[in-house]
Amino acid sequence: MARTRSARPQTSRDLAEDLAAIYSATRRRSEALAKPLSAEDCTVQSMPDASPVKWHLAHTTWFFETFVLERHARGFRPFDPAFRVLFNSYYNAVGEKHPRPERGMLTRPSLAEVLAYREDVDRRIDDLLGARGGVPAAVADLVVLGVNHEEQHQELILTDLKHLLSRNPLAPAYAAHWPLTPVRLRKMRWIRVAGGVREIGHDGAGFAFDNEGPRHRVLIDDFELASHPVTYGDYLGFIEDGGYRRPELWLSMGWDTVRAQGWEAPLYWHARDGRWFNFTLHGMVEIEPSTPVCHLSYYEADAYARWAGARLPTEFEWEAASASVPIDGNLVDSGALHPLAPRIDPSASGFAQLFGDVWEWTQSAYAPYPGYRPAPGAVGEYNGKFMCNQYVLRGGSCATPRRHIRATYRNFFPADARWQFSGVRLARDCR
Ligand SMILES: [Fe+2]
Repeated sequence: MARTRSARPQTSRDLAEDLAAIYSATRRRSEALAKPLSAEDCTVQSMPDASPVKWHLAHTTWFFETFVLERHARGFRPFDPAFRVLFNSYYNAVGEKHPRPERGMLTRPSLAEVLAYREDVDRRIDDLLGARGGVPAAVADLVVLGVNHEEQHQELILTDLKHLLSRNPLAPAYAAHWPLTPVRLRKMRWIRVAGGVREIGHDGAGFAFDNEGPRHRVLIDDFELASHPVTYGDYLGFIEDGGYRRPELWLSMGWDTVRAQGWEAPLYWHARDGRWFNFTLHGMVEIEPSTPVCHLSYYEADAYARWAGARLPTEFEWEAASASVPIDGNLVDSGALHPLAPRIDPSASGFAQLFGDVWEWTQSAYAPYPGYRPAPGAVGEYNGKFMCNQYVLRGGSCATPRRHIRATYRNFFPADARWQFSGVRLARDCR
């Protein structure tokens, strides 16, 4: 839930118009992501963790219908009463849910019906935001939350679709724009960051998810952080040094997973005739050594760091290092849809690629900050109930919308998850 709840009971007409414009632009971006896809592409589910594109398009609409219209639109009637269960993701307070692993069995409603559902909800949200005299601040807060929620699903549309397409022997390209950029080799260097008592978490200006606060003090020792993320070329060194065959490099659960899953390389890597290729949203391409390595699990990021004589940063170290770095980078808006080769950041910090390219695993367990309280009601289920058995990732990826990412943003996934654009930036203690 937004932490920046307005003290005013009404949002002004101007702000409501701004919100309507942001709402509409966000909704159109989701549809644009689905535009190059067939109805078949949008329907199939490749694994329980990944949802079909059609489901994402419907669920984000369900969010606005359930949390905004049902509560605040006069004379509310559902578009289709069955959708309340069909497109509920995990909100127990809303009621029954269609089982997550069976989202790909929903050949009905059709994609056309889901798009009509979107249109209908858009019209009603538009009516609500266009009401004379503005809208109640509580409604505006929920629409802002819904917009940020939809941006999260825009990233999932791309990562889930990538997983689906990767399972097709034809290795279909979602967007064929390869090669992306000229490659420049850059040598990683260590940058010292001064420790001390640091303020961590969102400071209350603008939107943030509830898990980003309250802002609080954390004691950090001096540490060093890598100038840029680990690259494919770096990671290849780990593979060639027997990284996947050396239990001493792995956490116990990580080694069990390597053995059980038969991992020999990151997700989407394929060895052919002594060369490594990887599946991308541009199809199957040869790995590019200067590009940040992605689709690593926490276990792989941790094992690589141990092999390299380093460690993962804590999320507090990451945030302290990035606090003064401009939010700029290879985010989804660049259209690259894949990490790009490192470039020297013009900012004074010397860090490159803190934002965009790959989400960076931290060694921090996803836990509540001191004083954290989920919002009351169903939207309180958004983040808080997932604070167990997951690790925090920072910085956004090449699939994250630019306006969505912040230095305080906390993404989180289980330690074995690999289908997000997840990579690693090394840290080490000062010697
Ligand atoms: Fe959701």
